[in-house]
Amino acid sequence: MRSVHYSGGRLSLRDVTPDDVDAIHAVYGDPAATEHLPFSPRTRAEIEQIVTAALTLAAAVPRQVYVLAVIDNESGQVIGVGRLRIDPEHPHSAEITVALRRDHWGRGMGTDLVRLLLAFGFRGLRLHRIWGARSPANTAAQLAMLVAGMVEEGRARHHVATPTGWRDSIIHSALRDEWERYRAG
Ligand SMILES: CC(C)(COP(=O)(O)OP(=O)(O)OC[C@H]1O[C@@H](n2cnc3c(N)ncnc32)[C@H](O)[C@@H]1OP(=O)(O)O)[C@@H](O)C(=O)NCCC(=O)NCCS
Repeated sequence: MRSVHYSGGRLSLRDVTPDDVDAIHAVYGDPAATEHLPFSPRTRAEIEQIVTAALTLAAAVPRQVYVLAVIDNESGQVIGVGRLRIDPEHPHSAEITVALRRDHWGRGMGTDLVRLLLAFGFRGLRLHRIWGARSPANTAAQLAMLVAGMVEEGRARHHVATPTGWRDSIIHSALRDEWERYRAG
C-alpha cells in the first residue's frame, strides 16, 4: 500500500492512524462542527471504528477512499480531517469532505484544506473532476469551496438523511483544466 503524505502551504495531509483518534474526536465530537453535517456528534468509540474502517479502505486495491489527517505544519498537530472518495462507477471523479477543529476556523485554513485536497486529487491522483456537497446553510464551507475554485453546480434535493430529516445539498465542483487555469490566475 502506498501511503499518502501531501503538503502545501500551512497544512499537510497523511493517512490517519489509531494514534489520531483523540484528535479526530476533537473535531467530529463537537456539536458546532456537526451542525451542518448529516450526523450527530460522534462518540470516541465511533471515531475508533471510523479509523479502523479507514485503515481497511486504505489497503484496498484499487484504492477508492482516502481518510486523511490534516496537520498544522506550524504546530505539527492534527487539526482536522479531509476525505476523498473516488466515485466507484466514475473513477475519474471524486467527492471531498473537510472538517477542522473549531479553534482553527475563520483563519483561511478551511480554504487551504480544500485547495490542498484539490491539488492532491488533480496532481497526485490525476482525477478529472472533484466535487463536494454542503448544506445550503453552511456559509463557511460555501466560501471555502468558492475561494478554492469550486463552482456551484446546483441543488440536489433531499440528498442526505440527517437525524432531523431530509436535507438538500448544494453541489460544488472543480474540473482539472479549469482548476489549473484558476490557480494560474
Ligand atoms: C467548513 C470549514 C472547514 C471552513 O473552515 P474555516 O477555516 O473556517 O474556513 P476559512 O477560514 O477558510 O473561511 C472561508 C470563508 O468563510 C468565511 N467564514 C468562516 N466562517 C464563517 C461563518 N460561520 N459564517 C460566514 N462566513 C464564514 C471566512 O471569513 C472566509 O471568507 P473569506 O475567504 O472571504 O475570508 C469549517 O467551518 C469546519 O470545519 N466546519 C465543520 C465541518 C463542516 O461543516 N464541513 C463542511 C462540510 S461540506
